[in-house]
Amino acid sequence: MAVKLAFIGFGGVGQGLLQILQDKKEKLKQEEGLETIVVAVADVMKGSVYDPEGLDADQLLQLTREKKPLDEYKGTARTVFGLDSLETIKETNADMIVEVTFTDVKTGQPAVDHCKAAFQAGKSVITTNKGPVAVSYQELSKMAEENGAFWGFEGTVMSGTPALRLPLETLRGNSIEQITGILNGTTNYMLTEMEKGLSYEEALSQAQAHGYAEADPTSDVEGYDARYKAVILSNVVMNSPLQASDVACTGITQITQDMLTDAIERGKRIRLVAKITRTETGVEAVVKPEELDVSNQLATVPGATNAILFDCDLAGPILLTGAGAGLKETGFSLLIDLIHFERQRTAVRQ
Ligand code: HSE
Repeated sequence: MAVKLAFIGFGGVGQGLLQILQDKKEKLKQEEGLETIVVAVADVMKGSVYDPEGLDADQLLQLTREKKPLDEYKGTARTVFGLDSLETIKETNADMIVEVTFTDVKTGQPAVDHCKAAFQAGKSVITTNKGPVAVSYQELSKMAEENGAFWGFEGTVMSGTPALRLPLETLRGNSIEQITGILNGTTNYMLTEMEKGLSYEEALSQAQAHGYAEADPTSDVEGYDARYKAVILSNVVMNSPLQASDVACTGITQITQDMLTDAIERGKRIRLVAKITRTETGVEAVVKPEELDVSNQLATVPGATNAILFDCDLAGPILLTGAGAGLKETGFSLLIDLIHFERQRTAVRQ
């Protein structure tokens, strides 16, 4: 039975997932037993469209490529236009909500309310929004469980690089005592480029031009983005609730080219490092620029690439590195959540 998807938000990441689902339709069906149909799309800017029998994905992608509103979708007598996000979640026949809205990471809204509405209706959610996992992880995961819903959020830390499922599944049985990471691509790119001679401003505008930076790059350069990711890692991997305000945070705004050059002359590199440590009283996390030996594996991660080191009592140090952003990579993070949803659904049916 095909999974019925509703996209809440339909920007680059949502379109990225839909394109992957189109491109890999046969592979996903053959290898994963995963079939999907899109029944609804609701986007605050583009409008909304719903057909309980399924929408034409190519037409949806074509409309957005041409920057046309969803009102121009050529449907059938069944097609409904104009439902808002919450109506789409509650009133359509979707069983999986793809939550990819522009969400305020501080409040987690509107994504938190979207997740709540979905779980209350017994519907599952996959999201790449950091807000709900950083702000309301405990409440939302309980709610999902009580309502028999699946909640996937792999893409919230390091996009499609499995920074959450690696420790949660593959490293199970270990005690993870510390997690250290380069969790923000924008700042790593900027520091790398500043070492090569670019000014802070030039490096930032290049990071923006490449699409690495958040809509408001303050979140990147002040370390807030890395701080939210540290909170998610504490909540999800360390199983220890943390708030962003618990995490001391210093960004890279005070780092100059001279400081970077001076560090290199001493065999060091300055990098924005997030560290989450288990202590006797809970978990402590900090985000700040650190001088790392040039030979340190975290210091050798180039440009916008991210890296994360899990200190495991049994497996030892495990380093994972890969993209931390990108439409295809983040689209993939939603796909892997969807594949896990399908596996669980199939296991329950058997
Ligand atoms: N602005 C973020 C970064 C994107 O630079 O890593 C992914 O959260």
